[in-house]
Amino acid sequence: MRKKIIAGNWKMNLTPDQASTLVRETWEEIQGIDGVDVVVCPPFICIPTVREILDEYSINMHLGAQNMHWEESGAYTGEISPVMLKFYGVSHVIIGHSERRQYFGETDQAVNRKVLSALSHDLTPIMCVGESLKERDDGHTKDVVVAQVKRGLFEVMKDVVRRVVIAYEPIWAIGTGKAASAEDAQEVASLIREVLSEIYDEDTSREIRIQYGGSVSPENISDFMSMPDIDGALVGGASIKSESYATLVRLA
Ligand code: PGA
Repeated sequence: MRKKIIAGNWKMNLTPDQASTLVRETWEEIQGIDGVDVVVCPPFICIPTVREILDEYSINMHLGAQNMHWEESGAYTGEISPVMLKFYGVSHVIIGHSERRQYFGETDQAVNRKVLSALSHDLTPIMCVGESLKERDDGHTKDVVVAQVKRGLFEVMKDVVRRVVIAYEPIWAIGTGKAASAEDAQEVASLIREVLSEIYDEDTSREIRIQYGGSVSPENISDFMSMPDIDGALVGGASIKSESYATLVRLA
């Protein structure tokens, strides 16, 4: 049985004081719910504050980051390393989000280095893949997603790949209010599982968690969660309000 996983990607939103309020308010509403991994991925500068709040109130949420560099230290101005994330008890890290690919030139090769580095530092990578609207319209969704999965997982060994979470996020659905249909998302998720079973084997592919992301809301989460190959959601907009995030967790 794959455990459900809901991850909130706050993107470049909220200051440390707002982060602290959001985490406490969300926790008040979801305490006692188990069977789902709840992850919050604040901006780097909020991570120390969120860590404190999680510890102080014994909050059972995982702390995630939205990105990291693959090196442990060095001359990489403006970057954050896996060692720094570990210092604050970060356990998850989003890698290769489409906004990083689009605005910061992240390639599949960079994504692969980061995935390998995250795994070697005992961090759970949430590796994002997904097609643009043009790629979908041109009928290339499958090729694009398959290539991203294969390149992102290049040289990731079978014994550790089970820890990877794959987030299928069609770019056109992100932040637009136009989510994919649950059926379309399921089709791609099942394709991803096929690719995983080709690269590794069927047992391994059945253990890897796949999320859907892109305009997930309290209104549509149940449709996604009822799909056989979708194990959770990567949520942007609906994760920065305690009420909607708590509802998503509850429904999941
Ligand atoms: P959204 O963002 O939920 O606001 O569409 C999802 C994401 O970018 O991870």
